[in-house]
Amino acid sequence: MLLDIRNLTVEVEGKTVLKNLSLSIGFGETILLMGPNGSGKSSLIYTLMGHPQYKIKSGSIFFKERNITNMSTEERVKLGLGAALQFPPKIYGITLRNLAKKLAKNDAEIDSIASLLNLTKFLDREINVGFSGGEMKRVEIFFLLLQKPSLALLDEPDSGVDVENMTVVGNAIGRLLSNSNNSAMKKPSGLIVTHLGYISRYVLTHRTYIMQNGTIICYGPTENLVNDVLKHGFDWCIKCYDNRVSCKMVGE
Ligand SMILES: Nc1ncnc2c1ncn2[C@@H]1O[C@H](COP(=O)(O)OP(=O)(O)OP(=O)(O)O)[C@@H](O)[C@H]1O
Ligand SMILES: [Mg+2]
Repeated sequence: MLLDIRNLTVEVEGKTVLKNLSLSIGFGETILLMGPNGSGKSSLIYTLMGHPQYKIKSGSIFFKERNITNMSTEERVKLGLGAALQFPPKIYGITLRNLAKKLAKNDAEIDSIASLLNLTKFLDREINVGFSGGEMKRVEIFFLLLQKPSLALLDEPDSGVDVENMTVVGNAIGRLLSNSNNSAMKKPSGLIVTHLGYISRYVLTHRTYIMQNGTIICYGPTENLVNDVLKHGFDWCIKCYDNRVSCKMVGE
């Protein structure tokens, strides 16, 4: 396993946001994570990245067979974790190009990835300052493509993105999670949070997980689960979980 989360319970500001959550991702696997608003999807990503506000009360996180539960964010990033956040911060005084130069092999790589993401004209602007929602999504993926993590955590990369840019974002994530630009590395893995599942048109996923109230309630083949959620809503998933029918239940 590349990532192994075991019975994780996490609090933020005194509120339990993850409850006894277990989830594993293998080498080269990409999974989708779906769940209602407030179910804890972004909290899981912050916790995996080591955000200091997210306090681990019990359980553990193993990444590349190392126990990273108490590691700093910097150490986790060095080990190969990377994230594209749902609400990325503005970084005043630092341009896209300034940060890209720290990550890229050379200027040509910066230019080619900026062009892939329609960001060429943004390179000399401060990061996310005055950017639209869809532009910020592309900026997050731009930095991940330069960082080349072995596990990319993508929080709603397909929300708020227009039709043309959905193709741009989809193809860029496809490239991020394929080994074509990473010949020296193993194929990267991905965890993609999505509400409508658009991204699954561009990226081959191994399975989809459904989250509710801070824990995983079911998982199964992406095509079935995305279609079922879009057709019946999450209430159907919860009923299925309660009745223990038709869904493949975690632990069974
Ligand atoms: N720093 C915080 N302070 C207080 N409450 C928080 C904090 N972070 C998360 N929460 C609460 O934890 C719950 C889970 O939030 P989270 O952002 O993880 O949900 P989500 O599944 O990503 O939702 P969405 O689909 O709307 O993005 C919410 O009720 C949220 O208000
Ligand atoms: Mg969220």
